[in-house]
Formats: sequence, C-alpha cells, structure tokens
Amino acid sequence: MANVLLTGGAGYIGSHTAVALAERGHQVVILDNFRNSQRDVPDRLLRLTGKSFPVIEADIRDTAACSAALAAHPVDAVIHFAALKAVGESEADPLLYYDMNIIGTIRLLEAMQAQNIRRIVFSSSATVYGQPDTSPILENFPTRVQSIYGRTKLVMENLITDLARTGKLLAAANLRYVNPVGAHPSAVIGETPTGVPNNLMPFMCQVATGQREFLSVFGNDYNTPDGTGVRDYIHVVDLANAHALALEYLLANDVAVTVNLGTGIGISVLDLVNAFEKTTGRAVPYKIMPRRPGDVASYFANPGAAEKLFGWKAALNVDDMCRDSWTWEAKRAGINDV
Ligand code: NAD
Ligand code: UFG
Repeated sequence: MANVLLTGGAGYIGSHTAVALAERGHQVVILDNFRNSQRDVPDRLLRLTGKSFPVIEADIRDTAACSAALAAHPVDAVIHFAALKAVGESEADPLLYYDMNIIGTIRLLEAMQAQNIRRIVFSSSATVYGQPDTSPILENFPTRVQSIYGRTKLVMENLITDLARTGKLLAAANLRYVNPVGAHPSAVIGETPTGVPNNLMPFMCQVATGQREFLSVFGNDYNTPDGTGVRDYIHVVDLANAHALALEYLLANDVAVTVNLGTGIGISVLDLVNAFEKTTGRAVPYKIMPRRPGDVASYFANPGAAEKLFGWKAALNVDDMCRDSWTWEAKRAGINDV
C-alpha cells in the first residue's frame, strides 16, 4: 500500500487512475487546478469507491503550494497527469504550453525535491514518435515531434530522465500512451470535453446522440487498408490499471523506464465507426472530408515492454471501448434508453 499524489487527478485519465489505485488499496491525494475538469469529480469518486480523497486545489506552477501539499500529505510517489493537451491550441499559443507543461513540471519536480519525494510516473504520449516508419512502435524508435504539444511532452520526459540519471529521482516511468477512449463502465466518471470535441470517439458519440449532424472523416486517401487514419485505441480503464502497476513496479525497483501503453492493434476510422454502430445500435452518419492538417497516417504500439516490466496487458477490446464511451456520453446527453 502506497500514498500517491495525482497531479491532474480530477481529469479524464487521472480520475480513472484514482479508482484503479483505490481498488488496489493505495491512498490517493489529488492536486488539480480544475482548469479542465469538473468540480464534482471528487464526489463522483467517493460514490464509486466509497473513499474520500483529499483534494488540493492548486496549480503545479506554484512550487510553494505543491510543497505545502506534499508536506501536509506525505507521499511515496507522484503520478503526474497535469498538463494541457490540445495540439491545435499548442500551435496557437506556444508560450502557454511551455509555461503550463514545461515550467509546471519543473516547479513540481522542485517541490518533490524539497520534500525528498523521488518516485514519479509521468503521462507522456505516443505523439512523441510522430509518423513512425513502421508499426508496431518500439520505445527505441526515433522521436519526431510534430507539434508544440508533442515537444513539451518530450522535454518533460527529458527533465525526468535527467533527474533520474543524476540521482535526484530514484525511480521514474515515462508512459507513452496511444489514444485513450472509453469511460468507467459505471458511467459515473468519463471524459468531459468542452465545446466541439477534437477527438474521434467523443465526436462520434455526439453524432450518435444527435448533438452533431455527421462525423467528418478526415481523409480516405492514406496508405492504410481502407484509406482512413489508423490508431491504437486503448480503454481508459486499462490505461488506469497500467498506472497502478507502473507505480508498484517503481516502488520495488530503482530504475528509470520509458514504456509504451497500447493494445498493439491498429484500428481505422471506419473500423471504429463500424464497431460503434454494431455495439451501440446507433447510426453514425459520416462524410469523407479532406485530411486534417498535422495528422499522421497510421501507428500502433508494441506493448511488450509494459507486459514484461509491469505485468500489464490491455484486457478490454474495441467493443468495450465503444460501449462504455457511448453509455457515458448518452448519460451526459440525457438519453435514457441505454
Ligand atoms: P485532462 O485535461 O482531462 O486532465 C488533466 C488535468 O490536469 C485536468 O483535471 C486539469 O484541470 C489539470 N491541470 C491542467 N493544468 C494544470 C496545472 N497547471 N496545475 C494543476 N492542474 C492542472 O487530460 P487527460 O486526457 O486526463 O490527460 C492527462 C495527461 O495524459 C496529460 O498530461 C496528457 O498530456 C496526457 N495524455 C493524454 C492523452 C489523451 O488523448 N487524453 C494522450 C496521451 C497523453
Ligand atoms: N478523426 C476523424 N474525424 C474527427 C476526429 C478525428 O476522422 O472528427 C480521425 C483523425 O484524422 C485520426 C483519428 O480519427 O485519423 C484519431 O484522431 P483523434 O483526434 O481522436 O486522435 P489523434 O491520434 O489525432 O491524437 C490523440 C490525442 C493527442 C495524442 C495522440 C497520441 O488528441 O493529443 O492521440 O496519444 F498525442
């Protein structure tokens, strides 16, 4: 049993990870500024787990607030989710992303150092690979960031790796996620994008609820089996469990690792539309549109290192992802027949 601080713990992946940690007997403290999460998430977590997690409303860029939080709630490790994550926004406002993601991570690491907390699990992204030459992607493939967001993730990884190399951190895991989708099967927590969703699954759900007329499929002329973009989608509950296992690995091993988290299965946009329609019984009208600038054609991860090191493997399939995404989004939209 460990005491763990989750920066960004009220967010999409952080809240699911809080549940996974609590289920495995760990004590969770959440630090979040609620910039991109709902204030009722802690209540929802209480409903789901029967546990009340201490919540500190603070910005990771505020070293004093982070130090005070870590002094008040002594922890064995930090899982660092807090960041901004929209590629388009990062290109529109680079300094905001450098400040929130890079400066924020430096300030957090300073606070950890001040309190002698030397274990960290970090949310990185498969976006650091850009368009890989081949898939499945291995962790030693070259990094080719294609956006400011991607660059901030790579810098954050490097900060952590450097601190581990110089002995300031004892144990660290940079986790490179593929595309998280889905929600807790209870539909008590899930993703709450504001405005028009950028990502495929939430947009598709909103087409199925009738909130949006049709899905724009961005390009059907890629060099992929059906011409549409191929991704490795991972259920957020699988991703959350991977964090719990990564944490336990770091508590037992003083090492720094960089590990892909994915299913190893490539799914095209049209595959996902078909799986969604089959699983939910809802129609998803779509139109083929031009490619979205900045999109890569295809990738999927080799998750072998996560299995070898953490004993983790994705257990949920694309039908589970579609079902749980839909149940959550339909509930949010007030649709009762799900
Ligand atoms: P999210 O926006 O739902 O969660 C991030 C949380 O961090 C939010 O609750 C937000 O309020 C909080 N936060 C943001 N800036 C903060 C700050 N300066 N101080 C304190 N709290 C702050 O995002 P998510 O999808 O849960 O992503 C979590 C992490 O995973 C991020 O680091 C993201 O870059 C990474 N990631 C996400 C995806 C994805 O597609 N969702 C893919 C790969 C990696
Ligand atoms: N797509 C559509 N229509 C849409 C939205 C997406 O056709 O309305 C297509 C995209 O072109 C792409 C696929 O669906 O081929 C997936 O797109 P997403 O926007 O859902 O996800 P991305 O792969 O573009 O990016 C996501 C996150 C990034 C993260 C990356 C890897 O948004 O932040 O996964 O983790 F870096």
